[in-house]
Amino acid sequence: MNVRVNLELAARDASKAVRRKDLIVVIDVLRCTSSIINALANGAKEVIATRTLAEAHRLHREHPSFLLAGERKGVRPRGFDLGNSPLEFVGQRVCGKTLILTTTSGTAALTRSRRADWVLIGALLNAGSVARKAVEIAQMQGIDVSLVLSGRKGHFSLEDFLCGGAVAEDLQRREADLSDLSSGAMLAFKQAKDSLCETIMAGEHARNLVDLGFGKDIRFCCQLDLYSSVPICKNGVIRLSG
Ligand code: MLT
Repeated sequence: MNVRVNLELAARDASKAVRRKDLIVVIDVLRCTSSIINALANGAKEVIATRTLAEAHRLHREHPSFLLAGERKGVRPRGFDLGNSPLEFVGQRVCGKTLILTTTSGTAALTRSRRADWVLIGALLNAGSVARKAVEIAQMQGIDVSLVLSGRKGHFSLEDFLCGGAVAEDLQRREADLSDLSSGAMLAFKQAKDSLCETIMAGEHARNLVDLGFGKDIRFCCQLDLYSSVPICKNGVIRLSG
């Protein structure tokens, strides 16, 4: 039987995908999953996602050599080593390091997905590779795929929907059956494909990040298939798949 592709529009809906026992692809283009992908591609050892600032601080007290990273209202919380800009997650700063990451929506989607057997990290940066990996695992395990969009502050987010569509387009080429919502995302992606960055720049989340001075992050996150790596989250720890 073909793999079915479901799509959930916000972090809180990850629990529905967990209940279906689907393989979950968590997507937060701006900027959580893009930052995770870039950190691991730049040699970070692993990323531990936490829901709250308090959990992040507690983990850091237990492991002071881990780096504290993340954002609240888009900016680096006081006392943190790094914010949530993918452009910070490069070079010696992250190479070989374990990062504790807490963000407003992205790590909420990740922690709500924790009980799923398979959780992959997706963004535009690795859309093709994450689709390939998801269908490979789903076929092997006899399960379906859920694209879980983190959204923004609990609401729909344009860039995550377009990324879901990019992944869905690739999954359909691999003979997966799309739900109507996944098809809708794919159609939106096809429409926006040739002006992806401009379309995302016009969205609410991007405009807010531009106001905060993070315009460069958006252009970075809009690069389709920059990487072929696919991070996987197991027991709350995110590492590159072998
Ligand atoms: C989030 O998880 O809410 C985002 O990554 C926010 C941001 O752009 O920093």
